[in-house]
Amino acid sequence: MAPPQDFMASQKEELISTMTDLIATPSEPRYPVTKAKKGRHSPSNDRGQQATEVALRTGLDHENWRSRSLHRLFSVGHLEYEERLEEDVRSHIVRNSIHVLRMNDRGGYTVPAEGLYPFQWNWDSAIVSAGWAVFDEERSWEELETLFSDQWADGMVASINFHKFSETYFPGPEIWGTPEKPSKTSGISQPPVAAMAARFLYEHAEMQDLAKEKIEVLFPKMLAWHRWWYKARDPENRGVVAILHPWESGMDNSPAWDEPMKFRIDIDLPPYVRRDLTHVDASMRPTKDTYDHYLTLLYRFKKTHFYDPDQLYWISPFHVTDLCVNSILFRANRDLRWIALQLGKQEEAMEIERWLDDGFKGFNMLWDDQTGVYKCQDHITGKLANAATSAAFLPLFAGVASKEQAAKLVANLERWLSKVKYGVPSLDPEDPRFDQLRYWRGPVWLIINWMISNGLRHYGYEELANRIKQDSIDLTSKAGLREYFDPMTGDGCGGKQFSWTAAMCLAWLDRPAAIAIGHKLSGPKKHLD
Ligand code: GLC
Repeated sequence: MAPPQDFMASQKEELISTMTDLIATPSEPRYPVTKAKKGRHSPSNDRGQQATEVALRTGLDHENWRSRSLHRLFSVGHLEYEERLEEDVRSHIVRNSIHVLRMNDRGGYTVPAEGLYPFQWNWDSAIVSAGWAVFDEERSWEELETLFSDQWADGMVASINFHKFSETYFPGPEIWGTPEKPSKTSGISQPPVAAMAARFLYEHAEMQDLAKEKIEVLFPKMLAWHRWWYKARDPENRGVVAILHPWESGMDNSPAWDEPMKFRIDIDLPPYVRRDLTHVDASMRPTKDTYDHYLTLLYRFKKTHFYDPDQLYWISPFHVTDLCVNSILFRANRDLRWIALQLGKQEEAMEIERWLDDGFKGFNMLWDDQTGVYKCQDHITGKLANAATSAAFLPLFAGVASKEQAAKLVANLERWLSKVKYGVPSLDPEDPRFDQLRYWRGPVWLIINWMISNGLRHYGYEELANRIKQDSIDLTSKAGLREYFDPMTGDGCGGKQFSWTAAMCLAWLDRPAAIAIGHKLSGPKKHLD
């Protein structure tokens, strides 16, 4: 579908002004970041690097930096002995991480990676806000505000917000063609991390008045989004929600979709040119056949009254109960409930408790007792996936697994880790489809590591949690802040200078047990904090 003329003209204008902004004006001060206006492009990489260096050396940025956080980040004193890093390794990772967030800052939101992902991605942004929180509290709230600025009237927060024109990504707004003109978002969602991030920001806030003000505004928006998940993706009241596109899971190319993706590609699929392959080697990206399936879904959804959520659930040929979205939703519900109680919203807290109660039951459908792991379920055939992926361990992070289930998961995880140099691979290394380089079919993601490690800690598996944390530190110090990593060699893969990898380094190093949710993770609802 060709975009309307006025859309093209406005995008062109935007491109020209963006390019003008990119021309460096060396004397312009970079700080404060929080004052960067929406619509302005951040300065070039060099300037971001210089600014970071100057601020670190001289403390000139003191007003904006969270001095206590930075002090913690640059000192080892506050850490337990076994968590101490070599000082230079630690400060190198911290410096680079701050630099990457600043460099990918587009004024109010952070792109995942220059070129490869030039817009605001949903769960990336929520995770990234926890990274900003470590050194610029105001900017961290702004990240979440911008994410919700394009929330749909029905509550959905889309997987991508297209704030500014870019031609380095496919499929862009002209392909999605969502109802607003020009299209501002994609037409599907992504794992709902926002409430987890908001709680993290709120609990660790030094500017408490600001935090209170921000969370009050964000709370109803987050609640509306969670309601959307249940209304649009669980109209049958199973207690667990469906995803209707692999992109909704965030684990786009997972082998868990191999079976459910066996629907027929539409023969009238418009020809297209992929942009990802100009940034990243084809061996690390999904195949053409997989892309044809992605686009078949997209075009079918667009034809269905422009992504009408009430209809999509019934017409989508891809219909999966995904562990990543459901674990994150469950965990985010705990955090949203906690926020509701802070704000004195009892009724809303009870509504969320009902979701949690139903979720406890719903997760049972996803437990495969024979192999001792959770699995995604094809809702159309009713079968559990024939692949065990790293999402199998995320119910630990949700706190929905029983102690017995946790023990079985840990036995599996230990087996996986014995087969690779760096954990946690995204697929069971003994699965014949294991591919150490290809996107979600073998490589390690830091955000998944953080969630698994966090979950393990809460179930009392400290040693294993530390092994995963140490592997993550080794990977980033060896290969840099890459999108993902080869579990056999530790080499970096996919995009470079990746925002959520940077954010994870900051938040994880700063708050080793980040986002506390209490000790009683499973069990009756009164222990849900
Ligand atoms: C890839 C990932 C997805 C992520 C996006 C931006 O598409 O699979 O989870 O949100 O990149 O980083």
